[in-house]
Amino acid sequence: FEISDQKVTESCPSNIALIKYWGKYETQIPANPSISYTLNLCKTNTELEFVANEPFSVQTFLAGKEELKFAGKIDKYFRNIEQYLPWILKGKYIIKTENTFPHSSGIASSASGFGAIAKCLMALDETFVGKVNDDTSLRKASFLARLGSGSACRSLYDGMVVWGETKEVAESSDLFAVRYPNEEIHPIFRSFNDWVLLIHEGEKSVSSTVGHGLMNTNPYAERRFQEAHENFAILKTILKEGNMTAFIKLVEHEALTLHAMMMMSEPAFILMKTGTLAVINKIWEFRKETSLPLFFTLDAGANVHLLFPSIKEEDQIKEFIIKELVQHTQNNGVVKDVMRF
Ligand code: PMV
Repeated sequence: FEISDQKVTESCPSNIALIKYWGKYETQIPANPSISYTLNLCKTNTELEFVANEPFSVQTFLAGKEELKFAGKIDKYFRNIEQYLPWILKGKYIIKTENTFPHSSGIASSASGFGAIAKCLMALDETFVGKVNDDTSLRKASFLARLGSGSACRSLYDGMVVWGETKEVAESSDLFAVRYPNEEIHPIFRSFNDWVLLIHEGEKSVSSTVGHGLMNTNPYAERRFQEAHENFAILKTILKEGNMTAFIKLVEHEALTLHAMMMMSEPAFILMKTGTLAVINKIWEFRKETSLPLFFTLDAGANVHLLFPSIKEEDQIKEFIIKELVQHTQNNGVVKDVMRF
């Protein structure tokens, strides 16, 4: 292959898991399969400049500001994936990245960030090594993104996306993510709102790397991994039949299980805040009173993802969120997204 100076720009969305990935083995192999919704509006845009035949170095800018910590991570990541991209250490990089959502909002910027970088790398690979077909290229981007941040591999596809081998999904793999087949998804689940309540904007007290690691000694871990497999089988039927009540039950259970695992770790940690619990209780009260399908999921943080389908009563749900829930957030923050596929 022949390398040359290149500048590429790519964009990648974030995602929110419904069945959670929590716990992993060496080389970023998930302990259980996970499935997510790709967010449409929460994206990272990345410009990657490659200066060929310079000593290997990485410089990164986040929203115009130089970021040394991020550069260190990318440096390590590039060294790690040299076996898959043999040209990668043969030049220097200037990477400029910006998110379309507030930084440290708890929306997975590592997922969209590594997704966008993996896409940039595949664009370079195609110029240096030659074009493969689009499916192969996407699959390799997902494979590479996974090695940056596990959940990032699910951000390469739209709609519902599966990572981790499960007998419920053909071609599913621990090494890259695959689309969950659209024809297996009832229309009610294909147009969904995800409003993120920004409960707490500070740094997380425990990183997800440390959190995954603590599953190695968690006495409940094996049961949890098994449960994720069981939940896949249940979810498959739910998605097909359009059973909203069962969907809500499963998704909330997954979110609470993720945080329960954190509380059961040794040492234990808690990422929810008072506002998180207040919001959850308000959602449950609202559902009891109105029977409307507003429910939540959580990432590894205090913020609450409010999920609700696009239905005729959605204005009533939105009004409730703005009047009753936004008061529990810092700076009255809510990031609105809608997934349609
Ligand atoms: O991709 P990581 O290593 O940041 O792990 C994130 C895991 C969760 O966001 C908590 C769950 C998930 O499946 O996305």
